[in-house]
Amino acid sequence: MSLIVNIYYTGKNGSAKKFVDEMISEGIVEKIRAEEGNIRYEYFFSKDDPETVLLIDCWKNKEALDAHHKTEMMKEIAILREKYELKMKVEQYTNVLKDNTDFETVIRKRTSTRKFKDEKISKEKLDKILEAGRLAPTAKNIQPQMIYVVQSKEGLEKIDRVTPCRYGANTVLIVCGNKNIAWTKNDYSSYETDACIVATHMMLEATNVGVDNIWIAMFDNEKLKQEFDLEDGIEPNCLIPLGYATDDYIGNPMHSQRKDLKDTVKFI
Ligand SMILES: Cc1cc2nc3c(=O)[nH]c(=O)nc-3n(C[C@H](O)[C@H](O)[C@H](O)COP(=O)(O)O)c2cc1C
Repeated sequence: MSLIVNIYYTGKNGSAKKFVDEMISEGIVEKIRAEEGNIRYEYFFSKDDPETVLLIDCWKNKEALDAHHKTEMMKEIAILREKYELKMKVEQYTNVLKDNTDFETVIRKRTSTRKFKDEKISKEKLDKILEAGRLAPTAKNIQPQMIYVVQSKEGLEKIDRVTPCRYGANTVLIVCGNKNIAWTKNDYSSYETDACIVATHMMLEATNVGVDNIWIAMFDNEKLKQEFDLEDGIEPNCLIPLGYATDDYIGNPMHSQRKDLKDTVKFI
């Protein structure tokens, strides 16, 4: 369960604001945000009291917060706090169970799950996931997606015949694009792009409502069409197994291996 720490820093003659400025300019804030398990690290300036700032500091769990307390940065923060002679008031909260998480958290939390428990997701959650797909943008708003929700024993057996990547999930979405109706431009048809956007919306909503997921491209396309007797023109794009990761699932080691922005973004 995540932990939220609110720290009120109160100083004199604007010292609390100067403290925040220095925390930012020294790169301390940025480093803390990059720490494993940090969800949020933000300062808020009081409208009523110019001498007080509030730090909202949110961590994935107690272990992450404990690890943060052991970092070298804590000494630097203590030195700055003394320099600006700040008084501190600390409050700790744990989060309540809720259906919606802020977008930044969803983006950071989403990761591929490759070992699911035998626990079915609720209809409410499934409906929310499907609704997120419904709201996705598509070329010319044609909405050429077709989504098949596979939950039956026979259906899941069919999935296992076309991919080794169900990973035990007992709900699998087959996300398709309808080639017959999608927007086209010369040789290009948007059915794949549209299906990808729909699938991405659904994955993110799944994460938002606490349902673990993964995008699967490794399946036998033709066999899947045969097994599920898909109409001509309905092209499977991906499978999305949905459920809950087992307690012993160690996570996807590739999740943290992201390129630097400078390798994938060019300002021209
Ligand atoms: C287009 C696409 C196809 C993928 N296909 C598979 C797949 O067939 N099997 C699998 O186990 N993972 C598959 N993945 C999951 C990726 O390996 C995973 O997203 C990547 O390692 C990054 O990890 P993360 O999702 O935990 O951030 C696929 C992901 C995408 C976006």
